[in-house]
Amino acid sequence: MRWNSYAVMAANLALALACGTRTDASAPGTGTATSASMPALAPLPAPGAPASATAPPSTTLDPVLVAQGAKLFNDRTCVACHGKDAQTPLLPNYPKLASQNQAYIEQQMRDIKSGTRANGQTAAMKGIMVIVEDREIPPLAAWLAAGAPGAAAGAAGGTPTLVIQPPDPALVERGAKLFVDRTCLACHGKDAKTPIMPTYPKVAGQNAAYAEQQMRDIKAGVRANGQTAAMKGIMPLVDDKEIPALAAYLSTLPR
Ligand code: HEC
Ligand code: HEC
Repeated sequence: MRWNSYAVMAANLALALACGTRTDASAPGTGTATSASMPALAPLPAPGAPASATAPPSTTLDPVLVAQGAKLFNDRTCVACHGKDAQTPLLPNYPKLASQNQAYIEQQMRDIKSGTRANGQTAAMKGIMVIVEDREIPPLAAWLAAGAPGAAAGAAGGTPTLVIQPPDPALVERGAKLFVDRTCLACHGKDAKTPIMPTYPKVAGQNAAYAEQQMRDIKAGVRANGQTAAMKGIMPLVDDKEIPALAAYLSTLPR
C-alpha cells in the first residue's frame, strides 16, 4: 500500500530517527491487576541521547528492566517457541532473539500483537500476545537485547526440533559477496550486527530459513511493518535466487 512510495520511504527514515528515543506511551487504565505485581516499569533508557544515523546504537540497559524481562520470558511462555536461551527456537523458520536490538524487538512485538506484522509464522506468536501487556514489552526487549543473561541453555521442554545443517561453503561465499554488492552492509553494518539505526535489526547469526522468509516477504511487501520500507527499496536489486545465499552467509556469522 503506502509503502510503495519512495517519498514515504524518506519520511519513514525521518520518523525512525524521531522514534529511536521515543518512550513507551503506555495506555492508562488497562490491566490494573497485573500493574500491581509489576511495579516501577521505567521508561526506555537514555531519552536524552538521540539516535544517530552514523553511530551504532549504544543502549544502556536498565538492570531492573532486564531482571523483569527474564521472568516475563518464562511466565508469558516465550520459552516454548524461542527456547530458554532465546536462541534455540522450536523450528528452523523461527528467529533467534538473544542480543537483538532493543528498539527493534519492541517494535516487532507491538506489530505482531496489533497484526501490523502478519507475515511468515507470526500467527503462531500473535495468539500468545493477548497475555502480554504493552508495558511488559520494554522489559522483555531489555532482557533479550542484553543477550538473555542468566538463561538456561537450549530449548524448553526437551530436544529442539531445530537441526542446524552447516550450509554449503560455496553458497556462503556467494552470500558474502552479495552482502556487499547488494548494499546490505549500508544498513546492517559490515559485520551484519551493527545497524545504522537502533530500530534496524542485527541479522548476523540468524537462522537461515527464517532470514530467507523475511527477505522474500519484505521484497514482496507481505511484511510491511516497522522500517521495512527502507529495505524494500533495495530488494529489486536482489534476485530471488540470491536470497538463499545471503541467508546462508548470515547464518554463519557470529551473533
Ligand atoms: C507459539 C510460538 C511463539 C511464542 C509463544 C512466542 N513467539 Fe515470538 N515469534 C514466533 C515466530 C514464529 C516468529 C517469527 C514470525 C515470522 O515468521 O515472521 C516470532 C517473532 C518474534 C520476534 C521478532 C523477531 C525478529 O527478528 O523480527 C520477537 C521479538 C519475538 N518473537 C519475541 C517473543 C516474545 C518476547 C515472546 C513471549 C512474550 C514470544 N515471542 C512468544 C513464535 C512465537
Ligand atoms: C536501506 C536499509 C536496508 C538495506 C539496504 C537492507 N536492509 Fe535488511 N532490513 C532493514 C530494516 C529496517 C529491517 C527491519 C524492518 C522492520 O522494521 O521491521 C530489515 C530486515 C532484514 C531482515 C529480517 C530481520 C529479522 O530479524 O526479521 C533480514 C534477514 C535482512 N534485513 C537482510 C538484509 C539483506 C541480506 C540485505 C541486502 C540484500 C538487506 N537486508 C538490505 C534495512 C535494510
